[in-house]
Amino acid sequence: MAEVFDLDLNRADRPLGEAELRDAMARYDAVLPTVTDKLPAGVFDHPKARTRILANYGVGFAHIDTAAAKAQGIAVTNTPDVLSECTADIAMTLMMMVARRAGEGERELRAGKWEGWRPTHMIGTKVSGATLGIIGFGRIGQAMAQRAHFGFGMKILVQNRSAVSPETLARYNAQQVDSIDALLPQCDFVSLHCPGGAANRHLIDARRLDLMRPDAFLINTARGEVVDEHALAQALWFGTIGGAGLDVFDREPHIPDALMGADRLVMLPHLGSATRETREAMGFRVLDNLTDFFAGRAPRDRVA
Ligand code: DGY
Repeated sequence: MAEVFDLDLNRADRPLGEAELRDAMARYDAVLPTVTDKLPAGVFDHPKARTRILANYGVGFAHIDTAAAKAQGIAVTNTPDVLSECTADIAMTLMMMVARRAGEGERELRAGKWEGWRPTHMIGTKVSGATLGIIGFGRIGQAMAQRAHFGFGMKILVQNRSAVSPETLARYNAQQVDSIDALLPQCDFVSLHCPGGAANRHLIDARRLDLMRPDAFLINTARGEVVDEHALAQALWFGTIGGAGLDVFDREPHIPDALMGADRLVMLPHLGSATRETREAMGFRVLDNLTDFFAGRAPRDRVA
């Protein structure tokens, strides 16, 4: 980017506050936020805004008030496709870790508490051949289905806002279910791959957690706000679900105490796209979007 643009970098690699973002909007033609830079409507309420494009480094853009951006004539782009595989890999990682008690096992071993093999030691749940419910069947949901179906012989059920084409479903021998409520009681594992934002806030709440089987597992690599963390902590505490794996949290990097203390919960610090290959590909995708935009072409990943 430095070869093509006059570039200022956030070298401290820390989230910018609202005031800093407003200031950036006055000084730069393009601003490149990430998921941790919150851009509510207030940031756009700027008489001297210079910014013409927000080229987001990440696929999710619920942290940007796109309506406010649009009202100011500011384009918004994201970085889809390039992180689908790695995010699905992390969802699989969480699923395997929680089902096979890998986090607990490693903690026991490192604490010097392992007493050796025994038939009843740390018994987990078999993943191969189980039923996986996928909520949100976009690119990442489909990458998850690919792994689960072809790698683990899982039966795939899908819930998606719009109808998924028969060809897409056939690829994974998947079946689309009408509603989340109908999907949840049928699954051994439920993996969330829907967008975040206000529309999906607490999509998985206490009532829906109650619809899950008592031995089923919930995996969230989508956005923290999609799950009511308090309700999840209660479900884990009372054992009304089998366990959970989380890569995302409502108020990152804050983790509620109730989750910190929960057994049968595996947590990762938002690592979905965190591979060298993917993070570089995301950067090049941002560069492509910016280059197209300033050359007067339509950026391929424009979302607003
Ligand atoms: C995204 O892209 O939205 C991820 O959450 C961070 O890579």
